[in-house]
Amino acid sequence: MMKLIISAALIVTVLASCNGSKEGNEKSKDNTASKSENMIVKDAHSYANVADVHTTHLHLILNVDFDNQKVSGIVEHKIENTAGVDKVIFDIKDLQIDKVTIGENDEEAKFEIGEADELLGSPLTVSITPETKIVKIHYATTDKTEALQFLNPQQTAGKKYPYLFSQGEAILTRTWIPCQDTPGNRITYSADVKVPSELLAVMSADNPQEKNNTGEYQFKMKNPIPSYLIALAVGDLVFHPIGPRTGVYAEPSMIQSAAFELSDMERMVESAENLYGPYQWGRYDVIVLPPSFPFGGMENPKLTFATPTILAGDKSLVSLIAHELAHSWSGNLVTNATWEDFWLNEGFTVYFENRIMEQIYGKEYADMLALIEYQELQQEVKDISEGEHPEDTHLKLNLAGRNPDDGMTSIAYVKGAFFLKSLENAAGREKFDAFLKKYFTEHQFQTITTEDFVAYLKENLLEKDNVAFNIDEWIYGPGIPESGISITSDKFTKVDAKIEELKNGSAKDLKLKRNDWSTQEWLHFMRHLPSDLSVAKMKELDDIYNFKACGNSELMSEWYVQSIRHGYHGAEKDMEAFLINVGRRKFLMPIYGELANSEEGKQLARKIYEKARPNYHAISTNSIDQLLSYES
Ligand code: BES
Ligand code: ZN
Repeated sequence: MMKLIISAALIVTVLASCNGSKEGNEKSKDNTASKSENMIVKDAHSYANVADVHTTHLHLILNVDFDNQKVSGIVEHKIENTAGVDKVIFDIKDLQIDKVTIGENDEEAKFEIGEADELLGSPLTVSITPETKIVKIHYATTDKTEALQFLNPQQTAGKKYPYLFSQGEAILTRTWIPCQDTPGNRITYSADVKVPSELLAVMSADNPQEKNNTGEYQFKMKNPIPSYLIALAVGDLVFHPIGPRTGVYAEPSMIQSAAFELSDMERMVESAENLYGPYQWGRYDVIVLPPSFPFGGMENPKLTFATPTILAGDKSLVSLIAHELAHSWSGNLVTNATWEDFWLNEGFTVYFENRIMEQIYGKEYADMLALIEYQELQQEVKDISEGEHPEDTHLKLNLAGRNPDDGMTSIAYVKGAFFLKSLENAAGREKFDAFLKKYFTEHQFQTITTEDFVAYLKENLLEKDNVAFNIDEWIYGPGIPESGISITSDKFTKVDAKIEELKNGSAKDLKLKRNDWSTQEWLHFMRHLPSDLSVAKMKELDDIYNFKACGNSELMSEWYVQSIRHGYHGAEKDMEAFLINVGRRKFLMPIYGELANSEEGKQLARKIYEKARPNYHAISTNSIDQLLSYES
């Protein structure tokens, strides 16, 4: 069974035109004359032979076993064998495969599991006939399954019940569901999930709003989606409505603060629709997960997964929800065909997020958000340019043989968004908005490549409206091109003046209260403190503003970084507590990274990591193990 079947490995072809179910595609297909109908796209990160045979619908019958920290059951694939081949290839990683059957009568099928690649896992090749319509795989997850994090009660807010959540993007769905794990193929899905009767299960699908006493829940996702958007969370959850089609799930002890923090959600959906057309997914809900969630947010359709670290108490971090909501268009409606086109997902989303923020909170606020991001981009461009893969500052990436995670930098996010902002500036907002709206409508429920987008952009904006703009230097060239517009913020200029005052005086002389400034102004302040600012002044600042324990995760984490950098030890206790509690990689990496710059710091980092590591999701431990050369 372990026979090598490398033939299809790594270089697999994807027929871009055969993605998704009929209902989802028919209308939009007719409208997309410019789209290369039969273009073949290679996905370097999947073994699946979707160009020949692909899943159209997937049905899960799963049992969630908290005692053994395992999910097991059956995945049933409805397949369309367009090429009439005798093998269908799925992606699997760290899964136990028990049995495979084909057809209505569950006839046992031959299958082979290829050699495991550390990153991609293995191809699971099932023998079929050209007539086969159904393939059922009986399987179970293992303790190596990276997508799932099982939490014991101690790791939850309520401390009474266990919890489970999944994270599929980019290539982790294959660690909990045997599937054709490429964004180049779209599927609808349904699921029957059994959980302990005191818990509620929710998915990226139509969701229940309260527990029943059987622990059995049924789910349906009727729109065709890429596999990385299949998601599941199970816990002691309650629901709180926000607006007619928006609401929030959280553990009971957090539901009120979550509902308060996210109370602008309905307005955000309206604002987004106002910009780029109707929201296509029915409800838009958010689940606030336990703090070990490795990301800020994940745009699972109908149900964004979010970190509790956005609950600052004053709605100051809700741009993250605008971001995940924006993915309901960029990413979930129009999806990157491969991870090398990731900027099509994230760059558009950051641009769109900023437009929503501008509509709801005003231009001054949106500009501060953009400028903070832009400063991060400048730093990252510098780091990448001096690193092992300087070509990673191009929007279009080459990630063959590499982890798709390598492409998840500010380049895709912020250079991508800044490219669109600059294009908007060249074309004028009205024309650009009309173009984007049309782009989303005409490509809905499709996957596209960077090249598809370039062709579409030329035809529908640049040539049509006679806009002169060198797009190649942005997409296929390094760094930030000259044609980028500049972003300025008067508010930040005022912050700079206060920093000057601090240099010459004491923190008290600033005559400033914590609430006088937004999160972004404080971030700007902290990041531009003089490198030789004395420990005494750091202490003064901390005494007045209590950044180390202020409850705003963005400010706390930045303060820990600055404290380490300035040799100020007064925040270490709070930093340790933060690192043990919070598993969001974006916060962990800069703190551990800064500690790792000195021998003394490295020792402290290792000591804290030893305690904190059991709380982290595999996505975070993978990164930090590497950073601290930690061997488990
Ligand atoms: N889709 C991403 C998260 C992601 C990216 C997961 C790549 C796995 C692989 C999500 O939309 C995102 O970008 N989240 C950000 C927040 C956002 C406001 C920039 C995060 O988690 O920090
Ligand atoms: Zn995103």
